[in-house]
Amino acid sequence: MAIEKVGVVGCGLMGSGIAQIAAQAGCTVVVREVSEERLNKGLASIEKSLNKFVEKGTLSAPDRDAARGRLRGTTKLEDLKDSDLVVEAIIEQLPDKRELYAALDKICPKNTIFASNTSSLSITEMAFMTARPERFIGLHFFNPVPLMKLVEVIRTIATDPKVYEDAVAFAGRVGKVPVRTSDRTGFIVNRLLVPYLLDAVRVLEDGVASIEDIDNSMKLGCGYPMGPLTLLDFVGNDTTYYIANIMFDEFKEARFAPPPLLKRMVLAGWNGRKAGRGFYDYSDPAKPRAIQLT
Ligand code: 3HC
Repeated sequence: MAIEKVGVVGCGLMGSGIAQIAAQAGCTVVVREVSEERLNKGLASIEKSLNKFVEKGTLSAPDRDAARGRLRGTTKLEDLKDSDLVVEAIIEQLPDKRELYAALDKICPKNTIFASNTSSLSITEMAFMTARPERFIGLHFFNPVPLMKLVEVIRTIATDPKVYEDAVAFAGRVGKVPVRTSDRTGFIVNRLLVPYLLDAVRVLEDGVASIEDIDNSMKLGCGYPMGPLTLLDFVGNDTTYYIANIMFDEFKEARFAPPPLLKRMVLAGWNGRKAGRGFYDYSDPAKPRAIQLT
């Protein structure tokens, strides 16, 4: 089944990016947010990103206009009723997901595929919140969605193989490289990335090196585009802390346990770039300044 009509639930950081790339790829997209205010914020970030691509010459102005024309925002979940695929990118809380999937199950026809963009919750658990577990998959995109080339396509023990192949094809169609993975917390990327990020905090906490030197080491010594502490600020310390706790709960391995300093930063609300403060101070966003934390 070719996926042409896409519904996206949530127009935050991830949902807006997913809606944007699907529209750019030629799909008809309806993206839903809970309030006009949040919707407008998400649509504005899509507009900014599309314009950035035009400025850089990687997207023509007519193609930008065509993508805009295929994308519609709404606050009504019912507007997703014609979707071939619905991608959920809402808050990472199971009770909210449960309520949403119950509503979507009633609104969408039986053949609509449901996908969650969760980074850490169980796809299997969500699949069985619906009446269509065989048509439920994970589609895990990466931040910033319009730039990052990867999508993890996650199958559960109940996923219909044809649905899975449709999802893999969809990920390719929206310009991403799909990788296949099963439903184990963290999938591939966070399974490897989260212990690395937590170790960077431990290195800082142990007084081995400064924030800048840890970041420069991995940037200049390993060619990573961002150092680990910059990446933590970019992803959000609260997000990584949340994912780490779920992974620790799943595997009971010390490498997934969030270090005390990360917990303290989350308790302080120093969640990174979005909070204006994390491992760096973003008072001047163009010139982040490392904070004395240890
Ligand atoms: N749309 C369009 N253009 C964008 C954009 C967007 N959303 N975001 C950034 N850009 C543009 C910038 O404006 C900039 O344009 P310019 O060259 O004209 O100034 C260009 O892209 C490059 O950006 P920057 O100059 O800011 O810096 P970089 O060259 O470092 O690229 C980056 C930015 C792609 C974010 C790069 O730093 C990177 O790859 N960082 C690592 C990101 C990463 O690891 N993401 C995964 C996080 S983990 C995750 O998402 C999983 C979850 O489960 C936690």
